[in-house]
Amino acid sequence: VHWTAEEKATIASVWQKVDLENDGHNVLSRLFITYPWTKRYFSSFGNISNETAIAGNSKVHAHGKKILGALDNAAHHLDDIKNLLHDLSHTHASELHVDPENFKRLGEVFVIVLASKLGPAFTPSAHAAVQKFIAVVVDALGHGYH
Ligand code: HEM
Repeated sequence: VHWTAEEKATIASVWQKVDLENDGHNVLSRLFITYPWTKRYFSSFGNISNETAIAGNSKVHAHGKKILGALDNAAHHLDDIKNLLHDLSHTHASELHVDPENFKRLGEVFVIVLASKLGPAFTPSAHAAVQKFIAVVVDALGHGYH
């Protein structure tokens, strides 16, 4: 993947506004509510049956932060995302057996969380750079599947 200087600068500037804890919780909550089949992988999280339960679930909170932590690392190493996510990809493929289609859904939800948080600051070029970043992450996470 080639990143232009503008794309790198845009991602760095958008990323300064990301709050790993809060946005992470929002991303995972929205994933569970919008794509409820994704909840099947998280039976160890206790009650995630509805929006209120999800909002108050501390494991959802902690895991959202963990996911955004991985994205944070990727955002700071744009030229090395494939290597960086190598082990995580294998974990999702071989141990967690997560259908990789779900990575796209999480990416979508992430973009929506950012857009609703940033409002007009989420310009078309910011959107484009973030979308490209997500595509690279989804691709890297898919590598352990083949
Ligand atoms: C665990 C990141 C998408 C299901 C994890 C962990 C990270 C992570 C960092 C912790 C791994 C560890 O402790 O070694 C990501 C990223 C994603 C993503 C960056 C996409 C951008 C998904 C999706 C699903 C999923 C879409 C399912 C729909 C799981 C499950 C665990 C896990 C079930 C184990 C949770 C537990 O029991 O603690 N993920 N993940 N992940 N992920 Fe993902």
